[in-house]
Amino acid sequence: MALVGELDLPELDLGDPDLVGDEYHRRLAQLRSESWLARTPVAVVVLDRAAGEFFLRARATAFPGRQIAELFGITSGPLFDHIDANILNLSGDTHRRLRSIVGGAFTPAAANRWRPVMRELLEEIWKNVDGDADGQAEFVAAVAKPYPALTIATILGAPPEDAPRLHEWSTWVQKQFDIRALTTDLARIEAAVVEVNAYVEDLLAQPPEASTLLGALVAAEEEGERLSHAECVNLAVNVLAGAIDTTQSQLTHALHLFAEAQDQWALLASSPDMVPAAVTEVLRVEPVTPFTARICLDDIEYHGVVFPEGTIVAICAERGNREAGEAFDVRVGHDARLLTFGAGPHFCLGANLARAELEEALGFLAPRMPDAHLDGPVRFGGIEGIYGIETLPLSWSTGAA
Ligand code: HEM
Repeated sequence: MALVGELDLPELDLGDPDLVGDEYHRRLAQLRSESWLARTPVAVVVLDRAAGEFFLRARATAFPGRQIAELFGITSGPLFDHIDANILNLSGDTHRRLRSIVGGAFTPAAANRWRPVMRELLEEIWKNVDGDADGQAEFVAAVAKPYPALTIATILGAPPEDAPRLHEWSTWVQKQFDIRALTTDLARIEAAVVEVNAYVEDLLAQPPEASTLLGALVAAEEEGERLSHAECVNLAVNVLAGAIDTTQSQLTHALHLFAEAQDQWALLASSPDMVPAAVTEVLRVEPVTPFTARICLDDIEYHGVVFPEGTIVAICAERGNREAGEAFDVRVGHDARLLTFGAGPHFCLGANLARAELEEALGFLAPRMPDAHLDGPVRFGGIEGIYGIETLPLSWSTGAA
């Protein structure tokens, strides 16, 4: 039986600034043609879907949040406390209890109930785009950035005017998962954690409306034993942080993909029933969480390889998803089990909400900007944390729809 550390594996540098756009897909495809495993300085990367799912579901693995924090010297203080209590870093009965308390607020039916709110928000956002831009906009600033922050503010029960602040905090708090940012921006990440916790405590000082997520969490807290006050605050912060940058990035990638596949975009405008399949295809080919990670809590054997206790495994959703095909095509309807939202007990809590938000956005935008195309250089973010697009200049013919 081979030990993973003794294998001769191809190397991958996730911090390489060239590893974005087409080059990133090309390099990962090249690696996969050499092996189902690759090596980074801190992790072994798993490049095939079945193996990825195996590690995500294995009982003897956990999200390595605490271990990564320790590597960066985060062993006490507010950021450590936040990481220690983050739902991703919890397991067993505690994790199951929290998921069961909050799960009802994130079912497909619960997500669907927010669709009218999403449409109203899109109408509001579009008024500014349409009015100011005359068929031209930097899509991130104009649409992708405000939309998920406004949506989650409403769901949580926060005032809409706070959405920009929530956006800012989400961006920084999520960087606890980004190894490069932990080196360069630790103080800012920690400050964001302190600020967003204080903000949620302030919101909770007034009784929240029962129909909001905070209302549901406070009801669970008031039932005693089910949810402590600290857990209530942590869950609200985890949802806030998880809901914004992810959906913003996924929506921007969607528009980027369609700007380069205009026939498919036109198809969405004329056949809105294709929107759910289009969202699945976007999630498949451009997962904004290209890598998630697990640490082995015991020696684990898979495919004749031993991953010793303590090994950090990075699971590559991008390669796993693309086993079904490299090309973006909303018409094919790939029967793909996606890794974009993870798998197993930590499967994304907000997956239904994210899908609903993306469906509403694509259904809304396709008829309003039917020939949207690139109108300048695209600036990509890095792939280590959430793989975003920083600027996406688009133009389209006005007067449509
Ligand atoms: C396209 C958008 C999104 C993507 C791609 C995404 C991706 C993911 C992934 C991959 C995981 C699992 C990580 C792991 O197991 O290591 C996860 C977990 C999670 N996501 Fe999302 N997410 C998205 C949107 C959202 C939204 C809208 C929310 C909030 C409502 C949210 C809240 C969470 C939470 C709280 C967890 C932790 C669940 C747990 O530990 O049990 N996400 N997400």
